[in-house]
Amino acid sequence: SVHPILLCGGSGTRLWPLSRKSYPKQFVPLVGEETLFQASARRLSGPGYAAPVVLTNSDFRFIVTEQLAEAGIDPGAILIEPAGRNTAPAVLAAALWLEKTDPDGLMLVAPSDHVVPDALAFRDAVAAGVPAAEAGQLVTFGIKPAHAETGYGYLELTEDPGDFAARPLALKRFVEKPDAEQAAEMVAAGTYLWNAGIFLFSVRAILAAFRAHAPELVAPVQAAVDQGKPDLGFLRLAPEPWEQVEDISIDYAVMERAENLSVVPFAAGWSDLGGWDAVWRESRRDVRGVATAGPATALDCDDTLLRSEDAGLEIVGIGLKDIVAVAMPDAVLVADAHRAQDVKAAVAALKGKR
Ligand code: GDD
Ligand code: MG
Repeated sequence: SVHPILLCGGSGTRLWPLSRKSYPKQFVPLVGEETLFQASARRLSGPGYAAPVVLTNSDFRFIVTEQLAEAGIDPGAILIEPAGRNTAPAVLAAALWLEKTDPDGLMLVAPSDHVVPDALAFRDAVAAGVPAAEAGQLVTFGIKPAHAETGYGYLELTEDPGDFAARPLALKRFVEKPDAEQAAEMVAAGTYLWNAGIFLFSVRAILAAFRAHAPELVAPVQAAVDQGKPDLGFLRLAPEPWEQVEDISIDYAVMERAENLSVVPFAAGWSDLGGWDAVWRESRRDVRGVATAGPATALDCDDTLLRSEDAGLEIVGIGLKDIVAVAMPDAVLVADAHRAQDVKAAVAALKGKR
C-alpha cells in the first residue's frame, strides 16, 4: 500500500492576515468546508492507502490531531520536527521511520496546502505512477504551465505530454525555481511542466537517492529518528541531532540531482494557493467574478474577493474591480488583486515594525 506523507510545517505568509504563524493556511477552510489539510488527508485515504504519516512542528500538533479526528481519519504517525529544516529532512525522517515497519512500502509525499478539486482523477494519477515507483523511479506530477512562474520547479520531458493521459513519462531534468528569463524560455518550449510538489517513490529508492545525493543529511536525521521520544501519540524527533541537519528542500537536495525521475502529467486542476489571487480563482464566483465569504456583501463589483473571518464583522464593497479584501478581527487587508504577491513583503515589513 501507499503511505501518504503529509507535510504541514510551513507558515504561508502570502495569505496574511488569514494565514498566521500560529495558525497557517493549511489549517483554515480556505475554499470549501474542510481545511486544506483535511482535504489533503481525505484525498489520500481509502483503498490502497495506509494511514497517513504527518510531519509538523510542536505548535501545530494538536491542530493536526483535532482536524484529523474531525475528518474521521486515524493517523499512522505524527512526527514532530524540533525546528523547521525544510522538506528534505522531513521526507528523509519519514522514510527512515517507515523503513522500520514497511521497508518495501511506497510513500506519496504531499503538501497539505494545495487545492486539487478532483480527488478521483488525482488518485488515478497516483495509481498510474505506482508501477514506476515500484521499479525504483522517483515519480513527480506535472502540471501544464499557465505562465512563467518563478516560484515553482520545472520538469523537462523527453517527449510531448500530448493528451495529458495519466502515464509515467521519462524526465530529462528537474529545474527548481528558475529566474524569470529561464522560466519564460521553458514555458515557450512546450516540453516543460510545473512540478506539483507531490512525489511518489519507494522507501528504498528515496533512501538510496538521499545516500547518493545528500549523504550529509542521513546520519543526523537517522539519529533524530532513532533517538526520538514517543509523547502522547506523537514522535518527537531528537533535537540535538536535528540541530546538525541542513535546511534544504527535497527539490534541491535530491530531485535536481537524481537521474531516475519520471513524471505523470496531471491536467485535472491543481493550485498551490500561492496568494489571494489564487484563492479568488479557486473560490465559487458569481457571474461578475465576485467571491464572498463570511458576512460580506458586494454591490456592483467585478472580479473581486471579499472575505470576513469574523461573524460579527460585516464587509461591504461598492463598485470595486480586481480587489481582494480580507478582514480578520485584528487586521484588514485591502489590495489590488494583481499585487497579491506583495503581501509577503508587507508581512516582512510589519515584522520589522514590531
Ligand atoms: N513538515 C514540514 N517541515 N513541512 C514543511 C517544511 C518543514 O520544515 N517546510 C515546508 N514544508 C511544507 C510546506 O508547508 C508545504 O506544504 C510543502 O512543504 C512545500 O513547501 P513550500 O515551502 O511551499 O515549497 P515551495 O512552494 O517553495 O516549492 C515546492 O512546491 C512547488 C509547488 O507548490 C517545490 O516542490 C516546487 O518545485 C513546486 O513547484
Ligand atoms: Mg508552496
